[in-house]
Amino acid sequence: MKPIRDRRSRPLTGRVSVPGDKSISHRALMLAALAAGTSTIEGLNDGADVTATATAVTALGAGVLQPDRSARVEVEGWGDRGPVEPVATIDAGNSGTTARILLGLLASVDGHCSVTGDESLKRRPMLRVVAPLRAMGAVIDGRAHGDLLPLAVRGGELEGRDHELAVASAQVKSALLLAGMHASGSTAVTEPGDSRDHTENMLRASGVDIEVTDRTVRIAGGQRPVAMHWDVPGDISSAMYLIVAAVLLRGSDLMIDGVGLNPKRSTALDVLKRMGADLAIDPTSEASGEPRGEIHVRSSTLQACTVDASDVPRLIDEIPVLAIAASQAEGDSAFHGVGELRTKESDRLAAIVEGLRGLGGEAEAAGDTLFVRGPRKLSGGIVDSGGDHRMAMAFAVAGLVSSASIRINGWSCVQTSFPTFLDLLGTAQAGGR
Ligand code: S3P
Repeated sequence: MKPIRDRRSRPLTGRVSVPGDKSISHRALMLAALAAGTSTIEGLNDGADVTATATAVTALGAGVLQPDRSARVEVEGWGDRGPVEPVATIDAGNSGTTARILLGLLASVDGHCSVTGDESLKRRPMLRVVAPLRAMGAVIDGRAHGDLLPLAVRGGELEGRDHELAVASAQVKSALLLAGMHASGSTAVTEPGDSRDHTENMLRASGVDIEVTDRTVRIAGGQRPVAMHWDVPGDISSAMYLIVAAVLLRGSDLMIDGVGLNPKRSTALDVLKRMGADLAIDPTSEASGEPRGEIHVRSSTLQACTVDASDVPRLIDEIPVLAIAASQAEGDSAFHGVGELRTKESDRLAAIVEGLRGLGGEAEAAGDTLFVRGPRKLSGGIVDSGGDHRMAMAFAVAGLVSSASIRINGWSCVQTSFPTFLDLLGTAQAGGR
């Protein structure tokens, strides 16, 4: 990575927008692939994860076109023809969302499909989606009795089931809803906590009937989304790096527009507000079933926070950068119930603790709780991203406020979700667009 030494201390000002939401982009591609006819997607995330989903639905028979590399992508769905048996193994790369949600789609494909991923994804648990899909009738096998990629799926007729998830997971819920859409009878998914509900919102927006009561979503089989125009809002998870940087860099006054503000996704903003961040959040519109708006952030001094386990599914991806914020806040912060961090692109719990300690911060993991003591002036040093985009960007934010520069090894993993991160940071440090 280019050192960000020369950028350090410069405030973030002006107005910027962040790339399209990664979660919504995956779902838009999959729903468009299922529909009959042509859908258009505006603002699709252009990171490697979403490209893996585009390649996967293409292998299954959808047509994905990006005329003139514009911001608009066209998808010709397979509709009534149904997906085709892919001729090669589908490679989900680093993307857990691609692999897990796709398994829900493959479960009803009449044929054989295999799915693999990169070294990180091959270590991540899949049984949480494989076991309930097997219960619906899919035949799935792979390493570790089907817990680890590569997995082979022989799909076919599925039977609707009521599932109780042990872990709140939008990926698992989404996979089961897509499988349920192709199953006989109805399928229900009950979660122990609230995870992001983009799939529910987008299914409704595309004309699919679902019933949501408390923490249960029910879908009747035999439905299909319609082809439509999807307008993807900016990614709140990506925006969080700029927001935390603006909070920490004195003199910052930044507007981020067109960003997704789904309440089941934006709990990190509530936490930052509770910490004393000067944030004004203005929901301006709704598109594709998802709220969006503007965030105005100004530099502020922070107090420590306590995050309850029940909030964690709604801010799971933001914990690395919130931990950096906590290291600069007054007092002891605690993030409870964050054990799921161990199963992400890297063991994020260990990476946060090791990374902060290596820079002179104070952090500790005890059971499923992460403790961070602040404020600590972080020193310069070397941090390894572990190939994990969120760790790389969280520590890049740390590098903006550390006493000497931080070198992040393995920087290229930011291609996963936010290839333009450094450009946008530069834009905001030059006063916005
Ligand atoms: C995602 C859900 C979350 C999140 C991931 C994206 C999604 O994973 O960590 O980055 O798009 O559904 P889990 O559903 O496993 O919690």
